[in-house]
Amino acid sequence: MNSLVQDARKAAERVGLKSDTIVINGGRPLRGTIDVRGAKNLVTKAMVASLLGDTTSTLRDVPDISDVHVVASLLEIHGVKISGSAATGVLQLDPANVASAKSAEIDALSGSSRIPILFCGPLLHRLGHAFIPDLGGCRIGDRPIDFHLDALRAFGAVVDKLPSGINITAPNGLRGANIELPYPSVGATEQVLLTGVRALGTTELKNAAIEPEIMDLIAVLQKMGAIISVEPNRTIFIEGVETLNGFNHRALFDRNEAASWASAALATGGSIFTTGAKQSEMMTFLNVFRKIGGAFDIEEEGIRFYHPGGELKPVVIETDVHPGFMTDWQQPLIVALTQAQGTSIVHETVYENRFGFTDALIKMGAKIEVHKEGLADPNRRVPRRPLEQAAVISGPTKLHGTDLEVPDLRGGFSHLIAALVADGRSTVSNVGLIARGYGDFVGKLEKLGADFAFAA
Ligand code: EPZ
Repeated sequence: MNSLVQDARKAAERVGLKSDTIVINGGRPLRGTIDVRGAKNLVTKAMVASLLGDTTSTLRDVPDISDVHVVASLLEIHGVKISGSAATGVLQLDPANVASAKSAEIDALSGSSRIPILFCGPLLHRLGHAFIPDLGGCRIGDRPIDFHLDALRAFGAVVDKLPSGINITAPNGLRGANIELPYPSVGATEQVLLTGVRALGTTELKNAAIEPEIMDLIAVLQKMGAIISVEPNRTIFIEGVETLNGFNHRALFDRNEAASWASAALATGGSIFTTGAKQSEMMTFLNVFRKIGGAFDIEEEGIRFYHPGGELKPVVIETDVHPGFMTDWQQPLIVALTQAQGTSIVHETVYENRFGFTDALIKMGAKIEVHKEGLADPNRRVPRRPLEQAAVISGPTKLHGTDLEVPDLRGGFSHLIAALVADGRSTVSNVGLIARGYGDFVGKLEKLGADFAFAA
């Protein structure tokens, strides 16, 4: 069994899926209401932040996704006592007895998550050392951790690369630092925040990421007693404090999940009300959704996304850091673009390998050309990054059911949408990978009237 299949099975087990394969009969519009809970990319980080407190933290609106289970287990092996459950959406995290974990245990869990790298700062403060095994996460590029390690070194940490992983110590404690990121990396910004809040003195971080999930993590840290100011031009100042307390926080909604279901509504010609979704964090997505010909109603409780009838129109998109168009939004949306009249172009500028999922769409009948070296375009808004690729999607094309093997989280959701759009039957395997980031996606498919069943 290859590691992808193994990861998918483990993820499926964690959230209690009956099987790792589902069979979908496509062609039905998805219609109905679903709940969008807290953002995977905030919740998992806020859980790590609980390590920094002297008292118990409470996190609400936690999604029941495999990545939350992985981080909970990682915290537990480091001595954090967890009560409540992802199923009910509330977790209490008590860090009174934080202790070192065995590297084999960390290794066994982290195969499917990049989060262990964010344990470094808090563990260095609490214990004076940290260990990171080989990091997993989605297979969407090299995903190096050099920015993280350079930032930790700037705080005074000593980094030893061993065959089994990376050992990090802080023999002289951690001191505030002046750090400029080569790129506004989400993870590296979180690393600096989680390390700087308890470092001695002031930290200045230039070229920081300012994604809404980062702002919500700053809100969590402020509740704990941290002093962090976000200045113009992507600069963040952190004044280190000696102690932090626990927090009580309701997580920001998952804008990636909302955008994914919105894309499913558009591609299938349906209508989905996403309870909990908010306009302000989704403005860039909403503009593109409207340009393609999708419609939305913004209400107090959430956002309704729907296909208002008529032809869908092509667009040109560049993925980017916030407030640009998120890289995580492009995969689900590309399925809707296969149904638009004309040629769309998606420039991927964040990761170097994020169009692998299109092979399956092509097999289903989509016309998509992937340009691995990127595409010149005189109207580009941002400078090119060497890793860029572009996908050219010509539509509309009929999609036909087939056997699909989910390659990663967002690519997997796009396979799911393609199977829902397609004529006939599709067998989708490795759906556990979708459960890494989409809470109760099976229950939601049922609520929305999808015709599917678990494979025997
Ligand atoms: C976070 O990944 C998210 N993951 C990703 O979501 C999301 O796509 C990404 O941010 C961008 O918004 C989590 O929050 C768990 P980065 P992260 O550091 O932090 C390069 C999903 O599907 N880089 O901003 O790992 C990197 O290779 C996931 O939910 C370095 O070169 O992303 C990439 O090109 C997938 N060196 C760029 O920066 C480093 O040390 C952006 O990565 C770190 C990053």
